[in-house]
Amino acid sequence: MTSTRKSIHGQWSSRLVFILAATGSAVGLGNIWKFPYIAGENGGGTFVLVYLLCIALIGIPIMMAETMIGRRGRQSPINTMDALSKEEGRSHGWVMLGWMGVVAGFLILSYYSVIAGWALSYIFRTASGAFIGVTTDGVNHIFSELVTDPERLLAWHTIFMVMTMIVVARGVKHGLEKAVRFLMPTLLALLLMTVAYSMTTGHFMEGVRFLFTPGKISGQGVLIAMGHAFFTLSLGMGAIMVYGSYLPRHTSITQASVIIAIADTGVALLAGLAIFPIVFANGLEPGAGPGLIFKTLPIAFGHMEAGTMIGTAFFILLVFAAWTSAISLIEPAVAWLVENQGMNRIYAAVWIGIFTWFLGIGSVLSFNIWSEYTWSVPFLFENKNFFDTLDFVTANLMLPLGGLFIAIFAAWVMHENSTRDELDTYNIIYRIWHFLVKYITPIAVIIVFLNVIGVISL
Ligand code: TRP
Repeated sequence: MTSTRKSIHGQWSSRLVFILAATGSAVGLGNIWKFPYIAGENGGGTFVLVYLLCIALIGIPIMMAETMIGRRGRQSPINTMDALSKEEGRSHGWVMLGWMGVVAGFLILSYYSVIAGWALSYIFRTASGAFIGVTTDGVNHIFSELVTDPERLLAWHTIFMVMTMIVVARGVKHGLEKAVRFLMPTLLALLLMTVAYSMTTGHFMEGVRFLFTPGKISGQGVLIAMGHAFFTLSLGMGAIMVYGSYLPRHTSITQASVIIAIADTGVALLAGLAIFPIVFANGLEPGAGPGLIFKTLPIAFGHMEAGTMIGTAFFILLVFAAWTSAISLIEPAVAWLVENQGMNRIYAAVWIGIFTWFLGIGSVLSFNIWSEYTWSVPFLFENKNFFDTLDFVTANLMLPLGGLFIAIFAAWVMHENSTRDELDTYNIIYRIWHFLVKYITPIAVIIVFLNVIGVISL
């Protein structure tokens, strides 16, 4: 049977727009802020290798599965799972997958917005010339001054949430195309300039070696690398599914997925190449944590030709990248409210925004008055505060779990003729994809989980 549903929210005008929107969702703080700092904390080389393997063997196949499910269902992830499980004659319980995604989206956006707030604040810091000729002590001081002040963090978090609500309220398709078409290449150019600066530090090769020479990795490191593959490609919670639901029929999902994954991975690796040479040249710690890019990039901008201008532009674009990602985190929930509660899009966006904003206060406080409130969960993590816990639970547990269920749904629950019809690709590509989502992805996710809780040991 050929699916003939239509989305009530409209469609992308072409495959290119889908690629741009999905790339806008994928490329964000995950690539530039998170990837370098978790690579630094987990020892570099092997971590990067595991991450790349996860992108290729898990990320791309899941991205294809998620997009395909979305396009076939043509509704918010919750309703899509409902419609498809009925159509395939399967359990209604699969709607839970949609719900888990909605919850994961709130949780992620709540802290994502706080970090985007840091980037917002750094636009003005950089523009004011505060980093000209800055020292290592100087960047550390400026960073800690920001994060230890809850009021400032809250103000920036609020501004970013309002920005996100405005776009979602107007409908994500509005303006996204133009924004991404121009902004992504510019961000890439600025990133390249920063890499060029890093080449002049005399520690470039040290950075390269750190990123690409295999070393040691813990079981938890493997989990974090896999979780990041989901996070960076926006997979496992319905964001790509909802974007897929706006995708016209007869556009190649395979090609789009490969292009998006390559663009996303390229940006992350460039960010790593920009940052680690600066780390080593200035005696900073690779494992400095979430503040890493805010302590390294200002050094580059403070010492390069026209650094104030380049740095200001860089942080503006970083905020844009975060913005185009943030909107995809609440789009599944907003689409559901519009479909099921008949709610006006503006109301839906505002209510969800307020709820997420409120949750974000916990992350704001995690960097100052709550920073000492930590806890541990046996086998999973030790001494994490509110922000670290949210990040760990969403990126490393909820997204891989969501991805696991998406794989199971696509390969074991949906019938082969449905997936073949919807993917509409060459037989050989279909077979490879089907094999990966049927066996490799679920087994890999399960092995990494079992390894982390110590049931098996890799
Ligand atoms: N991928 C984005 C980043 O790397 C973050 C993001 C947007 C996301 N939508 C998502 C992460 C959905 C997980 C799920 O910055």
